[in-house]
Amino acid sequence: MPRKPIVGGNWKCNPVEHAKLPDLVKNFSGCDEAILAKCDVYVCPSNLHLAMVHDKFNAGIMVTPQNCNFKGCGAYTGEMAVDQMVDLGLKCCLIGHSERRGEFGLPTPKESDELLATKAAYILEKGLLCVYCIGEPLPLREKGLDALMAEAIIPQLAVLVPLLKGLEDKSRLVIAYEPVWAIGTGVTASPEQAQETHKAIRDWIAANVDQKTADEVRIQYGGSANAKNAPELSACPDIDGFLVGGASLKPEIMDVIKAIA
Ligand code: PGA
Repeated sequence: MPRKPIVGGNWKCNPVEHAKLPDLVKNFSGCDEAILAKCDVYVCPSNLHLAMVHDKFNAGIMVTPQNCNFKGCGAYTGEMAVDQMVDLGLKCCLIGHSERRGEFGLPTPKESDELLATKAAYILEKGLLCVYCIGEPLPLREKGLDALMAEAIIPQLAVLVPLLKGLEDKSRLVIAYEPVWAIGTGVTASPEQAQETHKAIRDWIAANVDQKTADEVRIQYGGSANAKNAPELSACPDIDGFLVGGASLKPEIMDVIKAIA
């Protein structure tokens, strides 16, 4: 079975005014049944806004939290439980964004690979699709593919091996490869760089999980993806979609979706 493309819009901590939400939702109104039959689409509103808009999108668009806790409901101040997502009818949760892994030097504790593996297991156990972000900082990109795989990508992937092995439907764990140096910078990985890294990720999964998983798992590209670069990136055989930040707050998100759908 060919892999179904998947595109996500990550609104991060935007917009300031909730009055802008209807316009942001409208940017996705072109996702009709025909498009959604060819491409999975998810949108990550900010935590505060998610419950206000989760029933405002076209049916089939997955409204997706940008984080979850590791356990369930109870005494976890400031957290969101997957059980609550299930209750709201949500189908997908994103975790491990580099902005939560501490790449930008925020004065908050970094989320570790072990914590993220616990979250991923919890998401999958509750029946949701899990988008798991990985990526490398610029100094490792500059050292070349072998170094960035060994020092950044493989440690982030290794914790997923038992999960991927146990997963019957491999499409439920989506890997979002987002080079940190390309996020929000306007610098996109070239199609050659992105394809080479996606292929290295898939080859590593083939060697360390199995070939079936490598063939079926979807790997999205993220980092300044937009209407202009999406067609060329979509043509790369190992790129199965996009995780889009800035451009997902604009009407051009539909062009990114159409490029790969
Ligand atoms: P960007 O963000 O498209 O604005 O670079 C992508 C992301 O961080 O998910």
